[in-house]
Amino acid sequence: MNHPDTLFDAVMYPLEALSLRRKRRILLARARGDVLEIGAGTGVNFGYYDTLAVASITMSDLSVGERLRERAASFGRGSGATPVHLCEADAMNLPFADDAFDTVVITLVFCSVPEQAIGFSEVRRVLRPGGQMLFIEHVRPHHRVRHLVDRLNPLWFRVTRECNINRETATAMQSSGFRIDELTVSGRGFLIHGVAR
Ligand SMILES: C[S@@+](CC[C@H](N)C(=O)[O-])C[C@H]1O[C@@H](n2cnc3c(N)ncnc32)[C@H](O)[C@@H]1O
Repeated sequence: MNHPDTLFDAVMYPLEALSLRRKRRILLARARGDVLEIGAGTGVNFGYYDTLAVASITMSDLSVGERLRERAASFGRGSGATPVHLCEADAMNLPFADDAFDTVVITLVFCSVPEQAIGFSEVRRVLRPGGQMLFIEHVRPHHRVRHLVDRLNPLWFRVTRECNINRETATAMQSSGFRIDELTVSGRGFLIHGVAR
């Protein structure tokens, strides 16, 4: 991650308390089988997996930070037999075999992936037939504010060094061959979450 782990968790805290925590809990309880999480960050999602339903968890990010290592270690201790793997990987070039995972999880990641189409085709490649992608992403809203968001994006990208606030992520999923089975739009149009296959 570009940002120090503790600062990132602190900045995210109000958003987590307001809405993200609940979305993570409901969505990630549906993860099954061999799970790949892309852009795992500090590993905040560890707390939401159903260890009885998950066979293994692979947490990947561009770089694996200290906080992710700590959370992986304590998850490994608490979850009994669920194997945990950590991996440094770009979403656009995943170092995994075809059909390797039953569930891929992306939460607040594809705003930062430079070529979403390449990233989503990689997700499709590593998902087994019948597999699912669980997602929570912030996106470009469809109301009037979108034009303001477009104007602010270059500044936001410079400040964060990776994040875009005007990504049409649901459209990119569909263009890459995903069928979106469930889609909830919230946060005044800025947030989507759901399941794609
Ligand atoms: C906003 S953080 C989200 C972290 C975590 N998923 C969450 O829900 O809190 C975005 C994460 O995506 C990672 N990331 C950015 N670009 C990426 C890429 N091309 N491939 C993989 N991970 C990426 C960043 O390193 C960062 O950890």
